[in-house]
Amino acid sequence: MTAKRAIDVLADAGALAGEAARRVAESAAEATERRGRFVLVLAGGSTPKTLYGTLAAEPWRSKIAWDKTLIFFGDERCVPPDHPQSNYAMAVATLLSKVPIPKESVHRMKGELSDAAAAAAAYEAEMRGALGGLETPAFDVVLLGMGPDGHTASLFPGTAALDLTDRWVAANHVPKLDAWRLTLTFPALAAARRVIFLVAGADKAAVASEAFGDGVVAATHPAGRVATIAGRVEVLLDRAAATRS
Ligand code: 6PG
Repeated sequence: MTAKRAIDVLADAGALAGEAARRVAESAAEATERRGRFVLVLAGGSTPKTLYGTLAAEPWRSKIAWDKTLIFFGDERCVPPDHPQSNYAMAVATLLSKVPIPKESVHRMKGELSDAAAAAAAYEAEMRGALGGLETPAFDVVLLGMGPDGHTASLFPGTAALDLTDRWVAANHVPKLDAWRLTLTFPALAAARRVIFLVAGADKAAVASEAFGDGVVAATHPAGRVATIAGRVEVLLDRAAATRS
């Protein structure tokens, strides 16, 4: 299915966060009005931090019905929830501790569990329970970043999870990091009404021009594969990441 992919270039990371916040709030209003809830999948890494801080402040904080919002994570490092590398810890510090979202509405991937495969299976069961099944689309907005190697969530080039289409959550060993990760899989990331990529920095320009371009090489990058299979894909680049697009 050819995605409807829109690419917008913003002046800098702050402008990118402001535009992303506007779009998240737009989807939140539509989802809560039409379906009584807003299901949001958070991205990890550093780029989303500015967006999360923007959502936690006015005018956006009061535009989102946090009491009707469900939070999931696109991926997690296999570390405890208070670890400096934890995506959950980052989201709590920048957003979740600053908005009135019920604790039970935040669904954390338990990266601290020694059996990563069991943690992945448990998260999928938790998602199924919270969403009342895993039909497509399951999520109103999926936020994603992209690494300079084209990875998104914890779907890194050449790793086993790229081939998993029979599940929504997987444990994925990443040799280049010598680490395990928990990640949503391609079918799960694509099960979104709206995928919004947040991509900033010159080190991503070359891959971004391929991953979000129209060439056949796009889907060879994990980020590009999501952008190819998802239904509605919006790519927000800062100027530095757009120099090759
Ligand atoms: C993670 C993210 C990862 C991230 C990219 C981009 O856990 O690190 O899920 O996919 O989005 O690595 O990271 P930056 O936004 O920090 O460049």
